[in-house]
Amino acid sequence: MNSDQAQQEILRLSEIINYHNHLYYVESRTEIADFEFDSLLKQLQELEIQFPQFTLSNSPTKRVGGDLTKKFETVTHRYPMLSLSNTYSEEEILEWENRIKKLVDDEVEYVCELKYDGVAIGIRYENGQLTKAVTRGDGEKGEDVTNNVKTIRTVPLVLQSDFPTDFEIRGEIFLPIEKFNSINSQREERGEALFANPRNTASGTLKMQDSKVVASRGLDSFLYGVYGEGINSIGHFESVQKASEWGFKIPASNARFIEKTTSIDGIMDFIDYWNINRFSLPFEIDGVVIKVNSYNQQAELGFTAKSPRWAIAYKFKATRVETGLLSVDYQVGRTGAITPVANLFPVQLGGTTVKRASLHNADQIEKLDLHFGDFVYVEKGGEIIPKIVGVNTEKRPAEAQKIKFISTCPVCNGILTRKEGEVGHFCVNEKSCPPQVKGKIEHFISRKALNIDGLGEETVDLLYEKKIVNTAADLYDLTFDQLLKLDRMAEKSANNLLIGIEHSKKIPFERVLFGIGIRFVGETSAKKLARHFGSIDELMKASYDDLIEVDEIGEKIANSILEFFGDAENQLLIDRLQAKGIQFIGEKIEINTGVFTGKTIVVSGVFSVFSRDELKELIEQHGGKNGSSISSKTDFLLAGENMGPSKLKKAVDLGVAIISEDDFVKLLNN
Ligand code: IVH
Repeated sequence: MNSDQAQQEILRLSEIINYHNHLYYVESRTEIADFEFDSLLKQLQELEIQFPQFTLSNSPTKRVGGDLTKKFETVTHRYPMLSLSNTYSEEEILEWENRIKKLVDDEVEYVCELKYDGVAIGIRYENGQLTKAVTRGDGEKGEDVTNNVKTIRTVPLVLQSDFPTDFEIRGEIFLPIEKFNSINSQREERGEALFANPRNTASGTLKMQDSKVVASRGLDSFLYGVYGEGINSIGHFESVQKASEWGFKIPASNARFIEKTTSIDGIMDFIDYWNINRFSLPFEIDGVVIKVNSYNQQAELGFTAKSPRWAIAYKFKATRVETGLLSVDYQVGRTGAITPVANLFPVQLGGTTVKRASLHNADQIEKLDLHFGDFVYVEKGGEIIPKIVGVNTEKRPAEAQKIKFISTCPVCNGILTRKEGEVGHFCVNEKSCPPQVKGKIEHFISRKALNIDGLGEETVDLLYEKKIVNTAADLYDLTFDQLLKLDRMAEKSANNLLIGIEHSKKIPFERVLFGIGIRFVGETSAKKLARHFGSIDELMKASYDDLIEVDEIGEKIANSILEFFGDAENQLLIDRLQAKGIQFIGEKIEINTGVFTGKTIVVSGVFSVFSRDELKELIEQHGGKNGSSISSKTDFLLAGENMGPSKLKKAVDLGVAIISEDDFVKLLNN
């Protein structure tokens, strides 16, 4: 065979194998016998060895694995990978649906889906070729696991039909229960430690360096979201159906894996059905997900900081077990918050061994009326740490002593207080209680704050123990020699750390403000404050009234800011950081007063010049507030095309001024 013929043959075989692969794994049917398929694959493998220059980057031989990933590169998601707000109560689903109906004018179609208990993945396709697969990571950045994902048979490497030129599909990678059991029985035979549950195994498998091993594990996928330009569907359900035409394995409607409904009864029926039938599925689910179908309505509903308003997850209640309470430990957090943790007699629950459970706070201990030696009921819900939900009082020993919450800090012996209106206890020794001091530094260097590379928890511990670093400002006095003296610190890591520290001087003010750790000032409020005041000097001068002027800053945050800057040591910290060149001046986003100041505006419909998000941004930049639904507090309704008639009627009834996009632009220009 000459090289031209070889290239042709490689193309021909790849296409045939892709076709049969899809038929078998996605459509669950066959047109050829297994041995024929194997022989085609073998022919292709042999040709690829002989003519490696013609091997396609998405050759079906990638399914077998072989590509190694030395280091999983970090990739920034093109669209943030958000999570879902979730609940265990049907009541809250009802409330959510009521809210949606109020916020959206027209009839709402809901899509009910299963909540697969696996690992979220985002897979990009360019010109019909799989180009990148990235894990969720922290939602903003994930890890490139492309080689491993290519081994999953239900993930197409090359698409068919009329696909968009560049898009991302998101879904879940999971390990079917049968595969999980067979992996564990093999491990048992080999005397290896058993895997805890399918989800952890799927997640561990996806991060393995050798894709051959990944291929052998039998991971599977369900894809449930299409993102990108040119999707051309009116809603989520429709684009998932289209994805099936492009070759993806999508949740089957006839098995009730996905279902459309327009009523709360339909939603509840779906929940009830799966609450009972979930155990007969060949894979694990931990709940169901309800989504608003229409993309227009989704855009209208928008997002909260962490999750879309247009979707909610209903999680099934976990099975509970009973076990003995051995003791209670108290942990001290970065803010001095004390968390009681129960040590339990080890017990199996949902595939893992449980030894500890969170007790949340003193009220919880009181509510449970917990005694030493009690037998307790433990449940594992959505959270990683299981919780104690009750006590079997019948088994309580006669002389059992009631558990009394501690009154002094278990680390520094400081006094514990409980602020009015708060449930938790705090150690007051903010400046010298070790976990608080170290916690503040760890928060300062964290990725979303000053992002100092090369400085982990362990090094902070060491620097603190050796009394070299006691506050964030001390980091900027560190020398190469000091670092080299630390255990396990080589020249290269010392250098990297110093470079990381130097880089942090470029971090913008809003992140510095978040990093200095003012209680209750999270990422979003730090951003709002930085943009409003423009510099730390202006912020420090601000009065209570100035502070609560800022969007989303209420009484609690304002008081905490005043308290923070009123403290001499905190002022010193800021002075020292400022002297070292940390950014304490940012870009003040000028609020153009006079146009929308003090006005609440609701944006609804489709616009021709600006997108809805751009309009909302403009409103905020010009002093206005965005309202989500029409009420007597609404000043303007900015109405685009196709907006719902009932919203319009409500605005008319309430005498709300209705303006067009043109009017809006004119107002801005004035
Ligand atoms: S939608 C913006 N649908 O649950 C929301 N997520 O807490 C995008 N998950 O990270 C997610 N089944 O790993 C969606 N049918 C489903 C899901 C699902 C499982 C997971 C996913 C996500 C997490 C959200």
